[in-house]
Amino acid sequence: MAVTIKTLRERKQNGEKFAMLTAYDATFARAISDAGIETMLIGDSLGNVLQGHDSTLPVTIDDMVYHTASVARGNQGAFVIADMPFMSYGTPENAMDNAARLMRAGAHMVKLEGTDWMADTIARLANRAVPVCAHLGLTPQFVNKFGGFRVQGRGDEQADQMVAHAKQLDEAGADLFVLECVPAPLAKRITEAVSAPVVGIGAGPDTDGQVLVMHDMLGISPGKPPRFVKNFLAENGSIQEAFEAYGAAVRERHFPADEHTFQS
Ligand code: KIV
Ligand code: NA
Repeated sequence: MAVTIKTLRERKQNGEKFAMLTAYDATFARAISDAGIETMLIGDSLGNVLQGHDSTLPVTIDDMVYHTASVARGNQGAFVIADMPFMSYGTPENAMDNAARLMRAGAHMVKLEGTDWMADTIARLANRAVPVCAHLGLTPQFVNKFGGFRVQGRGDEQADQMVAHAKQLDEAGADLFVLECVPAPLAKRITEAVSAPVVGIGAGPDTDGQVLVMHDMLGISPGKPPRFVKNFLAENGSIQEAFEAYGAAVRERHFPADEHTFQS
C-alpha cells in the first residue's frame, strides 16, 4: 500500500519510526521503495553528489523537475518529497509557480529551507493543495550566511528560537519537518512540540524519522563522512540489502547510535 502523509502522521502518533533516503533517478527510486523505505527525497544535495558542486546553490528548478520526474517513474509506493532549490521560493509568488512544477512532475510534497519568514509561503502553499516540509537547523542553502557547515541550535537562546520557529511553521501548516545537525536534546524538544512528524539527520534518535543521503549510506561519497553517517553497504552483501538494513535499523531504533549523535 502506498505511503501517504496520513501514514506518517499515524506513525508519529503511534511512536513508530520511519525512514527516508534521497533518490535522484528511477533505478534507485525503485530499489529504495522496493526495500520498504517509507519516504524518498529528491534532495538538492544532487548538486553535490550528482553534479560535483561544493554547495547546493547552483541547482536549478529545471534540474529538480527532471530528477523528480525520474524518481516518480521508478517509485513503488513510497512518499515522494522534492526540494525547492536556492531562490526558487524567494517570494510567495515564485514559490507557487515552482512548487506546481515539482508537484506536476510527481512530488507528493515540497521541502523549503528557512525559519519564521516562510510561514506565509507555507500557509499559501498548503491552502493551494501543496503539502510542505520545513527544513530547519543546518540548512545547506544558507552556507554563505552561516560561514560554513556546522551544528545549529547550540546554546539556550538559539535552541529556544528554533523551537519557536518550528511551532510557528507547524501552525502555518507545515506537514513535515527535517531537522539537520542539531543537538539531540533540541531535536527531541522540537519533535514533542510540533504536531507534524519530524525527520532528523544528525539530530539524534528521538525524531519520528531519519534521513540520509543515499551516496553517504552506501559509502561512495568522497572524503571523510560526517559524524552522523553510517555506511550500511560495508556490512551487507548488496545495495538492496543495505537499503533494507537501513530501514530496519531506523524502525528498530538501532540507528542513529550515540556515535552518530551530537549531544550538545
Ligand atoms: O538535499 C538533501 O539531501 C537534504 C537532506 C540531507 C535532508 O535536504
Ligand atoms: Na536539501
